[in-house]
Amino acid sequence: MISAPVRLRRPGGDFDAVPVAEDVHWIGALDPTLRSFDIILKTANGTTYNSYCVRGSEGVAVIDTVKAEFADEFFSRLEQVARYDEITTIVLNHLEPDHTGALPELLRRAPQARLYISHRAPLMLKGLLKHDGESLDFTTVTQGDSISLGDRSLRFLHTPFLHWPDTQCTYLVEDGILFSGDIFGCHFCDPRLFNDKVGDFRFSFEYYYQHIMRPFREHVLAALPLVEALELNLICPAHGPIHRDAPRGYVKRYRQLAESQLANEARQRDKTLVIFYISAYGNTAVMAQAIKDGAESVDGVRVSVYDLQGGEVTPFVDLIEEADGLAIGSPTINGDAVKPVWDLLSCLTQVPLKGKLGAAFGSYGWSGEAVGMLEDRLRGLKLRVPCPGIKLKLIPTGEELADCHAFGRNLALQLTGQAAFRVVDIAELA
Ligand code: FEO
Repeated sequence: MISAPVRLRRPGGDFDAVPVAEDVHWIGALDPTLRSFDIILKTANGTTYNSYCVRGSEGVAVIDTVKAEFADEFFSRLEQVARYDEITTIVLNHLEPDHTGALPELLRRAPQARLYISHRAPLMLKGLLKHDGESLDFTTVTQGDSISLGDRSLRFLHTPFLHWPDTQCTYLVEDGILFSGDIFGCHFCDPRLFNDKVGDFRFSFEYYYQHIMRPFREHVLAALPLVEALELNLICPAHGPIHRDAPRGYVKRYRQLAESQLANEARQRDKTLVIFYISAYGNTAVMAQAIKDGAESVDGVRVSVYDLQGGEVTPFVDLIEEADGLAIGSPTINGDAVKPVWDLLSCLTQVPLKGKLGAAFGSYGWSGEAVGMLEDRLRGLKLRVPCPGIKLKLIPTGEELADCHAFGRNLALQLTGQAAFRVVDIAELA
């Protein structure tokens, strides 16, 4: 049974709109009992769905809405600060349902309002609203576009893939307020709302970055200069506390997180190959060592070997994020690779992997499916798998270990750009 959302009532009045700046109000919703977001993200403190209302001399803007179940709370707060016929502008920084659930009803109540979305968003908007054929009226905007509310103006920042293709930020120019969407947000529910009033939310902020933004590190680094160039009095994200005290500190923290690198004492020009294995009877372990020796026979490659039985997954994910290549070895047990291997691979969606080299190997007793399965998974994660995996029945012979050595050497040659292209005869593909 799905329980009804708990309503957190703010001291001083039910569902009050909260002033953020002069004629700028928070009109979002509090969801204190949420315990997982998008199924996979833990939310020990619940979350908030932040929406804002900005009043100018010639118009009222609503920036983002809330999850559908919380629409009554949102409309209650909105009605305290604006009439529906005053709303000229609706801005969606991001179209995920936690920010667009109340949109259809808002459009119905304020039909005169103009809807602004990023230029990457129209197909998503149509998909979300499942529009029934009527023309869906909206304006797309991108970097530098702005709209006027009379004495105030909203300017748009093109910040895609943070964390969906459509994401953008909106900047209230005259007040130095950034409505940042999911960026700089976190899942933390505290009705006191402002970062200088709420409980300690540092864990939630970091956790949110690691799980939502980290896979898009390059996009974070592309977006940060746009934010860093702004005068920032407030950052108003779409989830969690509003950054009123030292807002620029959150921008700096994003840069630290996105630029973070493990200390690397290897020569900068070295390529890095990390080999992970797990072994039932020591055979896959022997293969891993032979592959390591082969890879190390190529100059300019730094090779590391880890037994998955002896480590924690999280530091391994950090290693893989910064490695140029990843080789995984698993025995085949009951027609599958073993659980610790899948556990590691399931964590790799947290980090960008596209273009890294991937490889698989393993010893088997009966059928040896694990290697092919691992290669498929590596390709699914967008790694390139240029060297066919190597699988051996039970105890490797001296000749087979020489094959493993050659396999490792070939991986290293691929990493250093020395591998010769192989001409494939069309007959091989038949
Ligand atoms: Fe808060 Fe990506 O939705």
